[in-house]
Amino acid sequence: MKPTGVGIIGPGAWASISHIPVIAASPAFELRAVSTSRRSSAEAAAARYGVPGYDDHRRLLADPQVDVVVVAVQVTQHFELISAALEVVPAPAGASHAEAATLPTNGLTASHALDQLRLSPDSTVAVTGAAGAVGGYAVQLAKAAGHRVLADAARQDADLVASLGADHIVDRGPGVADRFRALTADGVDAVVDAAVIGAPLLSAIRRGGTLAYVRGGPDQAAFERAAATRGVTLVYAYVHDYDGRLDKLDLLRRLADEGRLSLRVADTFPPQHAAQAHRLLAAGGVRGRLVIEW
Ligand SMILES: NC(=O)c1ccc[n+]([C@@H]2O[C@H](COP(=O)([O-])OP(=O)(O)OC[C@H]3O[C@@H](n4cnc5c(N)ncnc54)[C@H](OP(=O)(O)O)[C@@H]3O)[C@@H](O)[C@H]2O)c1
Repeated sequence: MKPTGVGIIGPGAWASISHIPVIAASPAFELRAVSTSRRSSAEAAAARYGVPGYDDHRRLLADPQVDVVVVAVQVTQHFELISAALEVVPAPAGASHAEAATLPTNGLTASHALDQLRLSPDSTVAVTGAAGAVGGYAVQLAKAAGHRVLADAARQDADLVASLGADHIVDRGPGVADRFRALTADGVDAVVDAAVIGAPLLSAIRRGGTLAYVRGGPDQAAFERAAATRGVTLVYAYVHDYDGRLDKLDLLRRLADEGRLSLRVADTFPPQHAAQAHRLLAAGGVRGRLVIEW
């Protein structure tokens, strides 16, 4: 595993007895840069740790070798330094670190999907994989936007999906498009396909509607042709398109604060058990996120 590159703003006494020994002892991390407020101390720290030393924290933040930043300066300086240059928003009120960690990737994917659908509030949207992380957030965000929400679920997940706010729940599996369509006059306005079902869903959607997909299938060209034939627009929901969109992340945070988005932790694992977490995820059936706690 490639180690995560750490940059330390303020590599002084505190960092030298707390953060730096931990980084040095862990194969998962590597110290890559330090920054201080003065040239002389930056040079001294650079010589001591054998990494670039900057006298301006913005240069450390811009260093491509730095993946995460530790701010080890006086507490009063933290907010100014962090908010000026890093992509952070406050965690939802009362959320543990594990709970807060479940929000950004899947929440931003769902929000990117829904934003691209450009629906009016009275629209009907169907969500597949609604018991999962992306699908669950899609259901909740669609409800928060005022849409009528149809969702698929296995029998054992129906209560969970109902608790997320879906208006109608249909059985998942073959024929799901017919079941969605049967709940509408001409087909749904849009689908968020978090279960990666693809082309078989097109018949659920009215002409002029939209399907947001989260992963390309084996024959993307055929999928695009089928969508065009049915007059359905395809949009790709991609979390990295919202990199740096603090407004979007803060909106998710606010909805979580208000209890309109749920933070679901299925289990937590220490880093040395990450492989077990991956095996569980690959086996399917996980409800909520598996979180590695460092
Ligand atoms: N494009 C992006 O930026 C982006 C970002 C995040 C995630 N993703 C992708 O989004 C997808 C969903 O991620 P996730 O984190 O939400 O996964 P997840 O929590 O495992 O949710 C997937 C859900 O879909 C269900 N499902 C699987 N096959 C199905 C089928 N044929 N019919 C109906 N439901 C089915 C799963 O049920 P079981 O557990 O019972 O199988 C589960 O409830 C993944 O493919 C992921 O790679 C894309």
